[in-house]
Amino acid sequence: MNRFDEPAQRKGTACIKWDFQEADFNGRSGLLPFSIADADYRTYQPIIDALKARLDKGVIGYTDLDDAYYEAVRKWCDRRHDWQIENNWIVPVGGIVPAMCTAIEVLTEPGDGVIVQPPVYDPFYTIINASGRTILKNDLLLTDDGYRMDYGKLEELAKSGAKMLLLCSPHNPVCRVWTKEELKELADISVRYGLIVISDEIHWDLMLHGNKHVTMGQFRDLHDKLIVCTSCSKTFNIAGLETSNLIIPDKTIRERYQAYLYARYLFVPNTLGLEAVKAAYRDGDKWVDAQCSYLTQNAVLAEDYLAKRLPEAKLAKPEGTYLLWMDLRAFGKTSDELIERIAQAGAGLNNGFHYGENYDGFVRMNIACPRQQLKDGLDCIYRALKGA
Ligand SMILES: Cc1ncc(COP(=O)(O)O)c(C=O)c1O
Repeated sequence: MNRFDEPAQRKGTACIKWDFQEADFNGRSGLLPFSIADADYRTYQPIIDALKARLDKGVIGYTDLDDAYYEAVRKWCDRRHDWQIENNWIVPVGGIVPAMCTAIEVLTEPGDGVIVQPPVYDPFYTIINASGRTILKNDLLLTDDGYRMDYGKLEELAKSGAKMLLLCSPHNPVCRVWTKEELKELADISVRYGLIVISDEIHWDLMLHGNKHVTMGQFRDLHDKLIVCTSCSKTFNIAGLETSNLIIPDKTIRERYQAYLYARYLFVPNTLGLEAVKAAYRDGDKWVDAQCSYLTQNAVLAEDYLAKRLPEAKLAKPEGTYLLWMDLRAFGKTSDELIERIAQAGAGLNNGFHYGENYDGFVRMNIACPRQQLKDGLDCIYRALKGA
């Protein structure tokens, strides 16, 4: 049996996706969940072993980054992303979303314009609002070849004084793996207008069909305006440990960022998180490759299923991440109505409208689950929409 076919025991573990469904689904519970982005199969066993070994020491006191930690992160960036970084570029943080919020607060002023590219992961909007900055939208263009960035509008926004861009790469929810050429064009515009790029690459290891992620770190002329947000939280299914790494090549930006953290005593890393990162990055390559291949087969299965049984459903071509972005506008329902119908049929998906106001009629589905669960979920969607 493929290890990813085996469901993890998540129900009853205070798991958001399995145990707290009522708030998102009109009081319903007991749904098969395909929502929040973590996986329903077990994490990489050496991480569990490393955590157990650490617990066996009997004390979980304050901890800092040792040489093994720096080495594991540096080597992963080199091996997996062809990016040679230095130890002092690595800034450990908790979650990526709060870290991005800090970046906004440190590197821009209240009222400044921050660009996002809808449809996009909804906390991007929340953190710009929370920090009193102005959201500037550069909607992705939906072409016959899928989603593309609108460079014309991006340049206009940058020219008229936008200070920062929150890039999502690979892009949640449209699952694009941006090509080197696409990112180069974006980097050129950013350099030309001094736009700061916060590149959220949390899904950078999750490549389907053997695609290759290109990190923004490859563009050296952007380094003095760049923060790359990385984590093994999605890659190794350890989001609950809240341990991530920003890579900040430029000394000035880095020192400003760190000064903000130090002034607020926000620099004590999570002891168990550090152990997990070391165990993951040390030699988790084969496990990640096997996971990517499993996810690719899940994506192909979903594409085939929808093409055969629900051809009105249009799927954005899955290139990376483990999220599917479905255009269900042909059914003439709002996202709220779609989510409600699908929930009535037994599955919990994400509401597309939350990712951008122009995306009513879309839903997002997380396919990081055992294949049987995915099949059952697709059957729920079929039952919900057949004849709709
Ligand atoms: C693009 C993106 N960024 C950030 C996050 C969340 O990061 P964290 O839990 O580290 O704050 C997610 C989770 O789904 C995500 O998809």
